[in-house]
Amino acid sequence: MLKSPAPLRTVALLGGSGFVGQALASRLQAAGFRTRILTRRLEHAKPLWLLPDARCEAVEVHDRAALATALRGCEALVNLIGILNEKGDSGRGFRRAHVDATVSALAAAEAAGVSRFVQVSALNADPEGPSHYLRSKGEAEQRVLETRTLRTAIVRPSVIFGPGDGLFGRFLPLVTWLPFLPLAGAGARMQPVFVGDVTEAILRILGNDQLASGSVFELGGPEVWTLGRLVEYTARTSGHACPVIGLPAWAGRLQAEVCEHLPGKPFSRDNWRSLKRDSVVQGEDGLAALGITATPIDSIVPALLKPSRRARDYSAKRRSAQR
Ligand SMILES: NC(=O)c1ccc[n+]([C@@H]2O[C@H](COP(=O)([O-])OP(=O)(O)OC[C@H]3O[C@@H](n4cnc5c(N)ncnc54)[C@H](OP(=O)(O)O)[C@@H]3O)[C@@H](O)[C@H]2O)c1
Repeated sequence: MLKSPAPLRTVALLGGSGFVGQALASRLQAAGFRTRILTRRLEHAKPLWLLPDARCEAVEVHDRAALATALRGCEALVNLIGILNEKGDSGRGFRRAHVDATVSALAAAEAAGVSRFVQVSALNADPEGPSHYLRSKGEAEQRVLETRTLRTAIVRPSVIFGPGDGLFGRFLPLVTWLPFLPLAGAGARMQPVFVGDVTEAILRILGNDQLASGSVFELGGPEVWTLGRLVEYTARTSGHACPVIGLPAWAGRLQAEVCEHLPGKPFSRDNWRSLKRDSVVQGEDGLAALGITATPIDSIVPALLKPSRRARDYSAKRRSAQR
């Protein structure tokens, strides 16, 4: 039986120290809410330490009792925990971060009397999906939808862009330093969505008590791009001549196997498998349903990719001083 929701004052963010979480904390703050940033280690949330009305707390997400204690006094919980890669390729790391953490968060939220729960999932989340990432995101969604005592919603963004993203931010160093870029999955289609639109969507979902519990919002930007075009755009807009060479499937898989062993695992077999599904909105346009006009890449990304004149002068001086 669903409890009638208490007035929303304090929103807890699990995984709130990350790219989307930081943007969401600032948006909630601007909208007048208090936030509680729950993190595995307080240092991870350092950029949020000084945000007024935000309280950062270290908690072990798999310890339900500790998590319930940390959630006490919050009316809503947004689960932003997510990983793109795990140690090895067994799927265990994905299950723990996505499924087990979600089950624990749901139980703790119930125990703490939290009434609203928003799960940040991903387009193509599917228990039968082609990768551990998509399967574990899909299983986590199922657990959320099975919940009867919390008012739940799921957002499923395509790839997200904005300051500090892992999309343009990942390719910029590559197109800056490489003479050309051999790219796995260059033909994969995606619908990049602005982080400000994703956080606005979450804010509107949290504030709308009329939404049916279990509502799902697919979030995509105004345009569909291929990964290859996005990387070409990154090179062109940042002023680098770096042709992108799309790799055939066998070479893409090989690239994934090699990159899996590089420090930081910049690309993996599991990422490669995820790219088999286009990350494009299939159902209703979630942003439009929430009354949000999707922000185009061109109005945000050029400013992020072009180094400021000051930074350029500084780099030039460093180079000439050979430092
Ligand atoms: N960025 C995108 O393009 C994109 C696209 C679609 C969906 N999403 C989803 O959106 C959510 C937020 O993404 P993001 O880009 O903000 O990710 P992010 O920057 O990597 O942040 C994710 C957060 O999850 C927590 N976390 C990571 N591994 C964990 C683990 N093993 N156990 C517990 N907590 C863990 C971390 O918080 P602490 O270190 O503070 O504990 C981290 O700050 C994720 O669920 C992601 O799958 C993102």
